Amino acid sequence: MTTTHLGDLTVSPIGFGCMALSHVYGGTTDEAARDTLGAAVDAGTTFLDTSDVYGKPREGATGPAGTNEEMLAPFLAKRRDEVQLATKFGITAPRDETGASAKRTDGRPEYARSACDASLARLGVDTIDLYYHHRPDPDVPIEETVGAMAQLVEAGKIRHIGLSEVTSEELQRAHAVHPIAALQSEWSLWSRDVEDRVVPACAELGVGFVPYSPLGRGFLTGTLTKEQVAGDFRGGTSRMGEAFDANQKIVDIVAEVARRHDATNAQVALAWLLHRADQMGVSAVPIPGSRKPERALENLGAVGLILDDEDMTRLDSIRTLVEGTRNIVDNPKWISSGRE
Ligand SMILES: NC(=O)c1ccc[n+]([C@@H]2O[C@H](COP(=O)([O-])OP(=O)(O)OC[C@H]3O[C@@H](n4cnc5c(N)ncnc54)[C@H](OP(=O)(O)O)[C@@H]3O)[C@@H](O)[C@H]2O)c1
Repeated sequence: MTTTHLGDLTVSPIGFGCMALSHVYGGTTDEAARDTLGAAVDAGTTFLDTSDVYGKPREGATGPAGTNEEMLAPFLAKRRDEVQLATKFGITAPRDETGASAKRTDGRPEYARSACDASLARLGVDTIDLYYHHRPDPDVPIEETVGAMAQLVEAGKIRHIGLSEVTSEELQRAHAVHPIAALQSEWSLWSRDVEDRVVPACAELGVGFVPYSPLGRGFLTGTLTKEQVAGDFRGGTSRMGEAFDANQKIVDIVAEVARRHDATNAQVALAWLLHRADQMGVSAVPIPGSRKPERALENLGAVGLILDDEDMTRLDSIRTLVEGTRNIVDNPKWISSGRE
């Protein structure tokens, strides 16, 4: 397997998103989750992505669940040296008695320090290779948050700094405090707003890009059913709720290109991202997630899939056909385009 770079961090060209291993889209057992991870790492995926907020919440807990990180710990105890480990802090999602979130983010320096210690303890590791601030805190200047993360680098607790869903302006301010290795935001065939300002800023600054939900939370693969999405939060989103049928025309286009190459939809969606990132002069490492070992291997197959101009033009047409927004939260400022 070839390697690529996010800033100075060397990683596999496709990573693995661990969020889908627990809870969110149906989940699986911790043991099965680790088996899938094992298969992905055996096949050459070395870049693992988690967050302190992923995993099933604990009864009565008001902060990040931490349970996805805990699931990873036994795996890392055996294979830490083979992987680059990324995790995140800053989405706190404390719940009030109605279940609604009061304040969703925390970027205070003292919170960064305590969250990092908590993640290190749960993961059972000495250092995190890439530590992201998961969402900017509107009440804390990004310079202060990144300043605290820079101290974590100095202390050897983290190796590289990442930011998620920041605007180009927030990225520039943060990068002036400490080099940012990677920016993680949603980017895929049906989520392209980051191409306007954020991706060009990454290209200019030499910051790597980590496209999250690169398979459109599974929708672009053409394997999702209405019944499946009705069983989790996806059925309540604008794209996969009322527009589920209308958006099938997008899946049809992906499938048409996949047939031309004897590939799968997932491979085409990932190969498109690698090609598009190349066109835009940015190093990008998508992080698809799956509970199934065979799908983790299938997704790696995107690395060798060459798309030609005709394919890229056909896939580009998806951009104008999408119904519904990529934001899964009521607040438009939750994603970068809502603050630009
Ligand atoms: N920074 C952020 O705010 C943020 C937000 C969301 C996600 N993320 C990160 O991005 C990662 C990936 O995002 P995601 O899980 O939301 O979406 P995704 O990778 O676009 O899609 C995941 C879904 O696709 C299905 N899938 C995977 N490979 C497949 C294949 N080859 N064929 C058919 N179906 C396939 C999986 O189902 P099965 O499990 O049934 O295979 C899973 O439900 C997450 O794990 C997380 O690390 C970050």
